[in-house]
Amino acid sequence: MTARSIDGKAIAAKVRADVAAAVKQLSAQPALAVVLTGDDPASQVYVASKGKATIEAGMRSVEIRLPADTTEADLIARVDALSRDPDIDGILVQLPLPKHISEANVLAVIDPLKDVDGLTEASAGKLVLGKPGLRPCTPVGCVILAKTERPDLSGANVVVIGRSILVGKPAALLFLEQNATVTIAHSKTRDLKMVCRGADILVAAVGRPEMVRGDWIRPGAIVIDVGTNRVPAPEKGEGKTKLAGDVHFAEAIEVAAAVSPSPGGVGPMTIACLLRNTVIAACARRG
Ligand code: GUN
Repeated sequence: MTARSIDGKAIAAKVRADVAAAVKQLSAQPALAVVLTGDDPASQVYVASKGKATIEAGMRSVEIRLPADTTEADLIARVDALSRDPDIDGILVQLPLPKHISEANVLAVIDPLKDVDGLTEASAGKLVLGKPGLRPCTPVGCVILAKTERPDLSGANVVVIGRSILVGKPAALLFLEQNATVTIAHSKTRDLKMVCRGADILVAAVGRPEMVRGDWIRPGAIVIDVGTNRVPAPEKGEGKTKLAGDVHFAEAIEVAAAVSPSPGGVGPMTIACLLRNTVIAACARRG
């Protein structure tokens, strides 16, 4: 059997079209501010595509680029100013930050009403408590992709590999919110392969290229690959690299019912959900 490849680009395009339609209904144009500190090449690519997508959705994009030697106090002052600026609806501080800056201290000054990344303590608390709030974008994207294959997740066995604050933990809570039975697996999990084989839906968010092999997957499962790992690509020439997911796609596609590839699966959904959160934040703030 060959599985379906879940087309994250097409599903994200639909979300983005819905966002653009919602923006047209608003009296004021929503604005998303993205703060990039330092010159991490991957972050530069992400920030550029977020800005482009924001404009394409009919919103205002504010990009703040700061040098790698920016002090924590300076970054906090910039983010605090955005929190107080009535013309800004959403704030995203691109991670990772340079090592001398505490991510927690910076995230703490984001106004929770503008927390389109869903990473503040207030947003995380609302997610745990099951209260409405802004949810983290990549995990929401994982749930939307899973639901395109299985609209009712109630009772499904979901295994999330990875317990990061950005993806693993919130993804587990969002699947729980869908009444799934959720297991969080991680580097200390015993018999990881067997745990994964119990999954109806397997979410791989570990950051280890092609770690999930075909024999980790229950026949007929849905596999969501969150990994974006840069790996050597000698076939493209000396010193060249390419992106690889956490799942061995060629093996997974032979066993699963559906696999979201990486790139081309969760990545486009993250940006689409960021735009959606910005509209939600704008509506909530401006009424
Ligand atoms: N770096 C990689 N992914 C993300 C994300 O979703 N949000 C933020 N703020 N930084 C990231």
